[in-house]
Amino acid sequence: VILSANENPLGPSPRGVAAAMEALRGINRYPDSTGCSLRAALAAKWGIPPECFLVENGLDGALSLIGRTFFAPGDEVVIPEPTFPVYASNALLMGARVIPVPLDGWGRVDPEGLIRAISSRTKAVFVPSPNNPTGSATRGDELRAILSAASGALVFVDEAYREFCDDPEIPDAVPWVERYPNLVAMRTFSKAYGLAGLRVGVVAARSETIRLLARTREPYAVNAAALAAAEAALADREHLERTLRVVREGRERLASLLRERRIPCPSSGANFLSPRLGGDAERVCGALAERGIQVRNLAAVGVPGSRPRWIGFWRSWRKS
Ligand SMILES: Cc1ncc(COP(=O)(O)O)c(C=O)c1O
Repeated sequence: VILSANENPLGPSPRGVAAAMEALRGINRYPDSTGCSLRAALAAKWGIPPECFLVENGLDGALSLIGRTFFAPGDEVVIPEPTFPVYASNALLMGARVIPVPLDGWGRVDPEGLIRAISSRTKAVFVPSPNNPTGSATRGDELRAILSAASGALVFVDEAYREFCDDPEIPDAVPWVERYPNLVAMRTFSKAYGLAGLRVGVVAARSETIRLLARTREPYAVNAAALAAAEAALADREHLERTLRVVREGRERLASLLRERRIPCPSSGANFLSPRLGGDAERVCGALAERGIQVRNLAAVGVPGSRPRWIGFWRSWRKS
C-alpha cells in the first residue's frame, strides 16, 4: 500500500480509463494542442470562459511552465515552508530567490507571514490550499488579504487537493480568477480523479495571463489519451463522490485514532494526514514498511536552496 504519494485509493475513474483506451485508436494523430474540448468542459463546470484555462502535463508541468514564463534572476518568490518542494525548485532553477515563510504554530499557511514577506521584488506568492504536507487550507478572507497585499505580484493558489476539503469556509479559487487579475488557481486530475499516471494539470487565470503562459508552453504538452481520460473523469460524478466519501471517512477515522493516542496532527482538508511522531518517526515508518505500507518520513524534507526548517517547525508546533 503506497500512502506517500497521496493518490486515489479507489483507482482511476472507470469512464476515464474507457475514454483513454478509445483515444488510443487514434494516436497516429497528434493530440489537440490546446485541449479545446477539455477546456470547454472545465469552463462549463466552473462557469468561466475556456480562455481562462490552460492544461499541462500535470501540475508539475504547469509549475515548470510558470517558472519559465514568469521568474528571472532578481525576482523574489514567497513560499510557505514546509510545502510542496516543486514551487521552490522551479523558482531556483530560473535564478529567482525563494523567501520561505514558516507555517504558523498550528501547522497552517500563515497569511500574515506571507504578506509581511512581500517586497517590491516579489514576483509571486504561493498559497497551497490544502497544503502538502500538513493539509491545512486557506480561508476566503485570508486569501482576499493576500491577493490585495500582493497586487503587484501573481498569487498561485495550488488546489491540487481542494476536492477533498469539506470546510465551508474554504473557497474554490477557480471562479475567483474573473474578479482577481493577479490570481492563478491550479487543479489536477492526479488526486480526486485518480489519473496521476496520465499527467493532467489545470491552470485557471484571467485570459491575459493564460496567453502569456501559452507562448512558452510546449505545443503538445498533454497527450491524447490523457485529454480524453480527463474529460471523461470530469463527468464521472459517481467515481468522484465515492472517492470523496472514502477519503473523508478514512481521514476522520485515522484522525480520531491519533487523537485517542494523543498523537498531535494538524487538521487536514486533503487525502493525507501528517501526524507528529517526534523521535518515533523513523521506527514507525520502518514498522509500517515491514507491513507493506509506504509512508513518508517528513523529518528529512526541506525546501531546496534554503535551510530546512522542518525540525524547527515540528518543535515549535503546539499540541492542539
Ligand atoms: C500540492 C501539490 N501540488 C501539485 C502536485 C503535482 O500534481 P501533478 O500530479 O498534477 O503533477 C502535487 C503532487 O503531489 C501536490 O502535492
